Amino acid sequence: MDLGQVRRGVDMGPSAMRYAGLIEGIKELGFDVVDYGDITIHRSSNGSKQEQNLKNLQEVIKTSEELCRDLDQILSKGGFPLVLGGDHSMSIGSIAGISKHYKNLGVIWYDAHTDLNTADTSPSGNIHGMPLAINLGLGHPLLTEIGGYSPKVKRENIVIIGARSIDEGERELIKQEGIKVFTMHEIDRKGMTAVMEEAISYLKDRTDGVHLSLDLDALDPVDAPGVGTPVLGGVTYRESHLAMEMLAESGMITSAEFVEVNPILDNKNQTADIAVELVASLLGKKLI
Ligand code: ARG
Ligand code: MN
Ligand code: MN
Repeated sequence: MDLGQVRRGVDMGPSAMRYAGLIEGIKELGFDVVDYGDITIHRSSNGSKQEQNLKNLQEVIKTSEELCRDLDQILSKGGFPLVLGGDHSMSIGSIAGISKHYKNLGVIWYDAHTDLNTADTSPSGNIHGMPLAINLGLGHPLLTEIGGYSPKVKRENIVIIGARSIDEGERELIKQEGIKVFTMHEIDRKGMTAVMEEAISYLKDRTDGVHLSLDLDALDPVDAPGVGTPVLGGVTYRESHLAMEMLAESGMITSAEFVEVNPILDNKNQTADIAVELVASLLGKKLI
């Protein structure tokens, strides 16, 4: 998917991660892997119109509905869905398909951004800046109602980690809803170990499944340059491995997505390589 923002190439993220050895890496950990292939992206041939500060709204809706159906099916069969992206608007469809399988889905949003805009607050009209708000039930009804229910996630079941670029409307929403956010400030100050311990114990009792939504731009652009909206001063490569390893030890993660990998903006597929390594750590890969 690349229609949730305007920089081309992010739709090739899944290929870049497959090229980086994702599937072989997961198999080495002893899992069976079924690659469901790519979602059909419904591009309009005569260019898309922008409706109400929502770029490519119709295309995002169609794609989200398809992803929602696929994920619903995979979970019904008892699989662990690992979704590859693609711009972050895909979380509208993924969480719509996943959340109906849980009473209290937790979401860890590992991202430089909080993606809590709506058409009213978005400075860009890019839907990839809106999926967490949509999942909270805020935004255009055609987006919040995907999957036939809303909201997908309760505000107290969300933990955001790595935020350092927050728009004015998002800041207000965070305060108003009391959403739990560990910004770079908390990571610098307390260290990633303490942040993850807090995040894990916070979600452990209140949720019956936890989805990890990892936007590669959470990482510092020095480590992960292949993203469309890089922000200086990010989470390091080591801190990210530690975070994934701690999530693996917690045993709480029931689905995950790795998004915003853009090989066109990357340095020799470095960002996809790191994404693949982080997936392995999340799925329990250890050094010894
Ligand atoms: N906050 C900005 C916006 O809404 C940037 C969002 C970036 N989101 C992302 N998933 N990379 O346009
Ligand atoms: Mn981001
Ligand atoms: Mn994001």
